Order: sequence, then C-alpha cells, then structure tokens
Amino acid sequence: MAADPGRSRAQTKRTQMNQVALQPGKLERIIQMQSLIVQAAFDLDRFMQTVVNNLQDLTGAKGAVVELVEGDNMVYRSTCGSMNPFVGMHLARANSLSGLCVRNVEVLHCIDAQTDPRVDLAACHRVGVRSMVCTPLLHDRVPVGVLKVMSDKVNAFNDEDVQTLQLMADVLGAALGKQIAYDRLNKDRQRLSHQIARQEQENRSLLSERSDMLTVLAHEVRQPLNNASAALQSAAHLLAEANDLSAAQRLSRARGVMGHVLANIDNTLAVAALLTRSTPAEREDADVDTLIALTLGDFTAEERQRIVCERLSSTRTVAMDTSLMRLALRNLLSNALDFSPPGQPVTLSLSDCDAPLALIFDVIDHGGGIDQQGVPLLFEKGMQSTNPHNATGHGLGLYIVRRVMELHHGMAQLLRNCADGVTMRLVLPLAPAD
Ligand SMILES: Nc1ncnc2c1ncn2[C@@H]1O[C@H](COP(=O)(O)OP(=O)(O)OP(=O)(O)O)[C@@H](O)[C@H]1O
Ligand SMILES: [Mg+2]
Repeated sequence: MAADPGRSRAQTKRTQMNQVALQPGKLERIIQMQSLIVQAAFDLDRFMQTVVNNLQDLTGAKGAVVELVEGDNMVYRSTCGSMNPFVGMHLARANSLSGLCVRNVEVLHCIDAQTDPRVDLAACHRVGVRSMVCTPLLHDRVPVGVLKVMSDKVNAFNDEDVQTLQLMADVLGAALGKQIAYDRLNKDRQRLSHQIARQEQENRSLLSERSDMLTVLAHEVRQPLNNASAALQSAAHLLAEANDLSAAQRLSRARGVMGHVLANIDNTLAVAALLTRSTPAEREDADVDTLIALTLGDFTAEERQRIVCERLSSTRTVAMDTSLMRLALRNLLSNALDFSPPGQPVTLSLSDCDAPLALIFDVIDHGGGIDQQGVPLLFEKGMQSTNPHNATGHGLGLYIVRRVMELHHGMAQLLRNCADGVTMRLVLPLAPAD
C-alpha cells in the first residue's frame, strides 16, 4: 500500500466493502465473535474486551482499543496487547485522530504517525504507535466512540484490516449504545439502592428516637402528672372537709387543667403507639360500672356534675380493653362537654342491642351540633373545629374513638346531629368474631 499520510479512508465505507475479499476463515472468526458478543450481553467491559482481543488477533495489530467519548475527551475504555498499560487514559478530542474520526464520522487510516499532521504525536510516542486505523462507533447514527488498531510499525494495516475493523465496529456500535444505556441504568439503580438503604437507616434511627421520646412522655411526664393530679384531688377533698371552699375550688381548677394536659398526652400516645397496630384489641372480661367510674374520674367535679348516667342495660361485664374503651368514652364525653354550653347536661346512656349482640354507649349533648361540611370526615385524623372558640383541639379524639371501636370489631356512629345537639354512639359487640 502506498504511503499517503494525510489520506482519509472514507472510501472504505460500507458501500465499497465488498471490493476486498476477506481471507478464508476470517469471516467465520468475525461471525464467531458476534456470538461471543451476544454471550457477553449486559456486561459492558467484558463485551468490549471481547472485541479488542479478537481484533488484535484478526489484524495482527500490536494493540487494539475502544475509546469512548466523554465530554471533550476520548477515554481508553478497553485495551489489549501493547495498549494495556494505557487503559483509562484521557486524550483531548481536539488534537487526536480519534477525535477527528468522531467529528467527521469516517474511517481514518494513519500510515505513519511521524508525518501525519492529524495525530497527537506526543501521545503516539507515549503509547509507542507508528501506524493505526480508526473507525467510528455509531449508535443511532451518533458517534459514541472509536475502535482502533495500532502498530509500532509504519503502514502495518491493509485494506482487508480496515474492512475487518469496520465489520467489528458495525457490530460493536449497534450493541454498544444498548450496553451504555444499560450500564447507565445499572449505575442509576445502584445509586438509588444506596439512597434507599441510607434512607432506611435514617428512618430506623428516627423511629428509634421517636420511640424513646414516647417512652419519656409515657413514664417521665405522664405518670408524675397523674400522681400530681391524684394528690391535688385528695388535697381538694381535705380542704373541702375543712370548709376552705375557695382553696378547694382553685385546686379543682388546677386539676382540670392537668386533666386536659393528661388527656392530650393520652391521645398522642394512643395515636403514636397503641392504635397503629393491626391486631385486634386484647380483651378481658371487665366490669362495665368500673369502666364508667374510671372514665368519670378523668373529669373534674364540675364536669362530672354535668354528666348524667342512664343505665338501660343490665349487662355487668363485657370482654374489652378497658383502657382503650375508657379513652374512647373520655373523648366522646369531653367533646360533648366542650361543644355544648357550660350549664347543659350531657347524658351517657347504656343500652343493649340484640342484632348484633352488643352493648351500646350513647353520648348525648345539647350543643349546636356538628357543621354538616365536616361530617363526612368526622372520624378522620386532623378533623378540627371550625368554631374559633373551640379551636384548641388537635382533631385526634374521634379518630381515636373510631380506631378503638375497630380494634373491638365494633363501631362508632354519629347517630343524631341537629341544631339541638349531637348523639354519638359506640357499639361494643359482646361476642366479637375474632
Ligand atoms: N359533640 C360535638 N358537638 C359539636 N361538634 C363536635 C362534637 N364532637 C365533635 N365535634 C366536632 O368534630 C371535631 C373533631 O372532634 P375531635 O374530638 O376529633 O377533635 P377535637 O375535639 O377538635 O380535638 P382533640 O379531641 O384532639 O382534642 C371537633 O373539632 C368539633 O368541630
Ligand atoms: Mg375532641
């Protein structure tokens, strides 16, 4: 082949490839390699390595390399033979034959690097190259890199080598785009799984902090407050017996404030811990009158005076979780007391139901009723009063009531809602189907 240093080999493009007959056996090697490439599917490095190894063999090159475009650089991604020490090397696209090959999208044949103005001579000296052939790797007609064979001898490659290189580049280019896309997806997937793992770790530590805080709230705050409230109550009794009614009243008011704080803490703890479980409530046979007495004991003497108990049922014991039922009743009663005028009575009525066999608790008040707009979401968390005078609630009470009844396989209902007040009903099944 005549030495023509600046000659572009665009004429060796596909349309003219048939002009060179491949040596016997070479075509078979190329086909064999195609099947190897298929087997290396979705392992980009192994895939490119297969190509360069075979290419070196088929062309008798000293080294072969796949260079990929990375911004303004060409990067040696897969190498073989004398190019092995240079894997990972970055060369500026602007000054190299590979960069030109990508820019012009054509096959370039450098016969002697020493006299070819297109090559980066310093880089050629560094890697010990004298002649080379460079063919673009196209994915969807966009050049994504080059496939290159190199030799330390002048004019080491002939037309047959160029054609072999092109055949390999066709195969590699078509598959490379898919491989690169897969590689990127894989990297994204890895990045996302790291992110998820980090997030999970963060969530675990937040949950553990949350559970520590709930423990502090339950034991270090709630319990001492409860003790203090009981002490205030007995002090108020003593003062009342000693006829110091004004001091007794003040103590009772203080106990009322404490009672509200305790009720809020109980609601918060219930929402955060107790009611999140999916298993039914742990029920034990419990005395219904004790449940009523405990619930009424949560209110101040003034509040209790407004509550009228009506017992239309003779049921003595029911299987239930007493503390949860107490929480539900307390929330209904405090709503009835809070959302009706101070002097108005609130009735707690107990009755029986035959179908289903259940104990019914009705809490009846004579306030202004519930705004119709709020009714559909009444038992959802965060449902709050629109009345600015009652804007202190957290919207947890009726959600807790509903969850407590669900855990007992019963239900909570808004039975009556009118301008004359509200009746809230709890249905506690006597023989719940677990
Ligand atoms: N008996 C009632 N009469 C009038 N409105 C009521 C009555 N019961 C509930 N509501 C309305 O339903 C809303 C939700 O009640 P819920 O008990 O869930 O929350 P809350 O009382 O506002 O706050 P929390 O109970 O958490 O302190 C109340 O804010 C109120 O507007
Ligand atoms: Mg409430």
